[in-house]
Amino acid sequence: MTTAKRIDGKAKAEQLAESITEQTASLLSQHGITPGLAVVIIGEDPASQVYVRNKKRRAESCGFYSVQHTLPVDVSQRDVLKLIDDLNLDDAVHGILVQLPLPDHLDEQTITQSIAPTKDVDGFHFINIGKLTAGHTADAFVPCTPAGCMLMIEDELGPDLSGKNAVIIGRSNIVGKPMASLLMQRHATITVAHSRTRDLPQVVRNADIVVAAVGRPNMVKADWVKPGAVIIDVGINRIEQKIDGETKSRLTGDVDYDDVCTVAGAVTPVPGGVGPMTITMLMFNTLRSARLSAGLEG
Ligand code: GUN
Repeated sequence: MTTAKRIDGKAKAEQLAESITEQTASLLSQHGITPGLAVVIIGEDPASQVYVRNKKRRAESCGFYSVQHTLPVDVSQRDVLKLIDDLNLDDAVHGILVQLPLPDHLDEQTITQSIAPTKDVDGFHFINIGKLTAGHTADAFVPCTPAGCMLMIEDELGPDLSGKNAVIIGRSNIVGKPMASLLMQRHATITVAHSRTRDLPQVVRNADIVVAAVGRPNMVKADWVKPGAVIIDVGINRIEQKIDGETKSRLTGDVDYDDVCTVAGAVTPVPGGVGPMTITMLMFNTLRSARLSAGLEG
């Protein structure tokens, strides 16, 4: 039985973070600039708290100025917008991220669109979405998860994906749609599948590249997969499992990893695949923002 290569996102993210740390040190020594990242978290969602803590830790390890604003769950939209305005005007801050999801009373679109496009290191602003869609990425911020997925795909298949079929499962603004733009730029032929797609397994069987981003634990099975395909698992699902009579929770992706490994060429694990790459791409975007603001790139 064949076994797919395990794509080590954690190791790749470490390597990339080392290079970002070096570039940060030289930006400081040569130009006196320290990249600054502001993360805004609203409420006490435990998963969001973990993500934000990891982002802050990574920013600090890269040598960034890192600031976290923790707002109460009942904060008014006006106060959130005021904070973002202040951060937009703060020269020490090159990247602003408002952790999603937001409490129900806040309007996600108004808030994400109030971040200056030049500091939108999440790549959620319509200006950045437009630039990415138009293939104008020289000064656009690409959303971190798809950007990290692209680097891992490139490692396996090279930069030119001409003639490859890519199937993206999930049509979200954060992953599915920007992933489609990025893969199209590399000349892949794209299918974006979603909850209304008929015969999803049959669609996936045609794919040389699969990006699964639906939030359904272990959904993609070996008999959906074309032999040798590259499988990128964006899912982060917490499931309860009974081990020795004890119920424990563990993370699992959208892909049945062990099953798919019998057919695929290369697969990202969960955890240790896309997640660490996403955080490192946030640092990449923040460093890039600092360089762009100083006229050093673009
Ligand atoms: N919540 C889950 N993923 C993300 C992300 O990429 N950015 C932000 N801001 N919030 C998230």
